[in-house]
Amino acid sequence: MSSPVPLSKKFTLNDLRAARQTGAKVPMLTCYDYTTARLMQEAGVPMLLVGDSAANVVLGYDTTLPVTLDFMIEITRAVRRGAPHALLVADMPFGSYHGSVARAVRNVFRMVQLSECDCVKVEAAPTQLRAIRKLADAGVAVMAHLGLRPQAVGVMGGYKFQGRTAADAAGIVNLAVRMEKAGAACVLLEAVPAEVSKAVVEAVGVPVIGCGAGPECHGFVVVTHDTVNLTDRPPKFAPRIGDLRGPMVNCFAEYARLVREGRYPEAAHQYEMPAEERAAFARESSKRG
Ligand code: KIV
Repeated sequence: MSSPVPLSKKFTLNDLRAARQTGAKVPMLTCYDYTTARLMQEAGVPMLLVGDSAANVVLGYDTTLPVTLDFMIEITRAVRRGAPHALLVADMPFGSYHGSVARAVRNVFRMVQLSECDCVKVEAAPTQLRAIRKLADAGVAVMAHLGLRPQAVGVMGGYKFQGRTAADAAGIVNLAVRMEKAGAACVLLEAVPAEVSKAVVEAVGVPVIGCGAGPECHGFVVVTHDTVNLTDRPPKFAPRIGDLRGPMVNCFAEYARLVREGRYPEAAHQYEMPAEERAAFARESSKRG
């Protein structure tokens, strides 16, 4: 394991753009809480995504659809407090940017103002192009999420990799180009073959983040819980970077054992009254009988 180099200054969209130019690969992890965000900043992870995968790994839902905008704002703020130097991307949850351009813009403004994120992520469809244009005009950095779009699990018929046919692959590339033209600051590609991400990287000028999209992208994101053995069915593209399940289960079991065996709390875990107060309290107690 390499020694961590903490993030000592803010990582910005310009740094991500520069990485695209230099070929430096940018790591990104999902994060949903203050404590983990602090650790990720200490570990030097420059980009954090507060994904709506929180619906799965934090709240225990089967899909990402039930998570609300208020919840996403609250946890994004927590991550911001923990990792002030990270380039923080907040996922806009299902339903919060659909229906009308005005509604999408209103909800994105709310997310940006209340959470202090640097960028918002939307699952991209042609109907969002107008909203993305308005947001870009207002100075909001938007990450357009293409490929497998978990919020569209209903129409996709499950969590299957996308761009399986030449026509689908071309559709993804074309939509990425249209998203860039509308003003998207970067693109995220989830679960597509490497040929498709290579074609997107060549077709657009903005940074491309891959999530199960092969090696050509400029940055790479995975759901943190999938990589540290905290989920039961991680996708095939999630690397196993460690095992927190075993150590966590052992810690919880140890606590339960100490309590059951009467070995916790010990004297070291208790508060002490000053001697004279203890004596006075003992006298009071004996009077109460
Ligand atoms: O919600 C999320 O974590 C995501 C990533 C899988 C890209 O969108």
